[in-house]
Amino acid sequence: MKPINVGLLGIGTVGGGVFTVLKRNADEIMRRAGRDIRITVVADKNVERAKEVTGGKCRVTDDAFSVVNDPDIDIVVELIGGYGVAKELVMKAIANGKHVVTANKALLAVHGNEIFLAAQKMRVMVAFEAAVAGGIPIVKAVREGLAANHIEWIAGIINGTTNFILSEMRDKGLPFADVLKEAQALGYAEADPTFDIEGVDAAHKITILASLAFGIPMQFDKTHVEGISKLQAVDIRYAEQFGYRIKLLGITRRTPEGVELRVHPTLIPARRLIANVEGAMNAVLVQADAVGPTLYYGKGAGAEPTASSVIADLVDVTRMHTADPENRVPHLAFQPNQLVNLKVLPMGEVQTSYYLRLRVADKPGVLADITRILADEQISIDAVIQKEPGEGEEQTDLIMLTHQTREKRVNAAIAKMEQLSAVAGQVTRLRLEHLGS
Ligand code: HSE
Repeated sequence: MKPINVGLLGIGTVGGGVFTVLKRNADEIMRRAGRDIRITVVADKNVERAKEVTGGKCRVTDDAFSVVNDPDIDIVVELIGGYGVAKELVMKAIANGKHVVTANKALLAVHGNEIFLAAQKMRVMVAFEAAVAGGIPIVKAVREGLAANHIEWIAGIINGTTNFILSEMRDKGLPFADVLKEAQALGYAEADPTFDIEGVDAAHKITILASLAFGIPMQFDKTHVEGISKLQAVDIRYAEQFGYRIKLLGITRRTPEGVELRVHPTLIPARRLIANVEGAMNAVLVQADAVGPTLYYGKGAGAEPTASSVIADLVDVTRMHTADPENRVPHLAFQPNQLVNLKVLPMGEVQTSYYLRLRVADKPGVLADITRILADEQISIDAVIQKEPGEGEEQTDLIMLTHQTREKRVNAAIAKMEQLSAVAGQVTRLRLEHLGS
């Protein structure tokens, strides 16, 4: 059978990996796909480097638009990233009737609704396994493997850079800024590391997962995004004393009132498998009604792990491109006319447990005042530690864990606590999830 022709846009780390793996495993990939998958043209601004990577095996150009307009190309692989020219190229490829494979989570989280609508009209596929958790086949699992289930919630460590930083902060007791430098030197961080450390990258990914899990449109603008740059090493230590680890989690949960969609540092019980995912690894925990909890673990970044997902999509598109579009797997798991606009809950309405750290005067009645405030807000205390003041100090750290409550109640209680003369400075508030089924 005639080979399927692929145009690759961007041959950086992941593009290089795609080239290498396609070549190394060509025979087996062909046995799976039923025909040869051939990269016939690569577009990259750096033509010299592109020529080096491809070793004269295909045409190289610096004009990506010539690739999406080339009538001989069947599938365009977009590995440029960002929402700028990448969006124009993807939309043009779709308009030209080409299938698209992309690793671009930012593009899909922000413009996915428009892209999928255009693809549906043009009867083409847009495949994006590599956009979430790199090499872990989580899109396939949620979209197809769990299709029988009512998915209840997903909690994922979906940014390797921040997981590496948190692991190092815990292991070595180092401050955030020092570990960030190490992560950058190791090449984990995105080109702009603020996307990693401020939680934006994880928010793109959880936005996509929420759409796949619940059949809702992409709603990145409603996702709560909070990173780890303000997290202090002292809270990692105190969390450990209570039996918890702090992870940057992307969380989405379906509740009777709407969908929770949030990224923030989270205390999770140290005994959970996912709490022991260390370094730059990713893991996604999915709670569904029929199967119960399932956990997916692997490399969330890097040349060959991400290439593994890109090529899996190439195989899928190769197998399915002649099928009637109505018989293909829908982009967002649910039939396009079955997507529902469930409300995304504002953070004040989210229900979870909390970790609070206060700097308090060590004198009679302080604890009573604080617990009174919590009781007035109907917040139940789960555990308390009060540290002994240091030598010659009159203030000490008071750390409390609460049972589940609504975030607006905790915020109201914190505002009242900060008014107490015995409480110095601001109260540190972190969210805590038990992740039980
Ligand atoms: N920068 C991302 C991470 C990898 O640290 O996980 C690509 O999504």
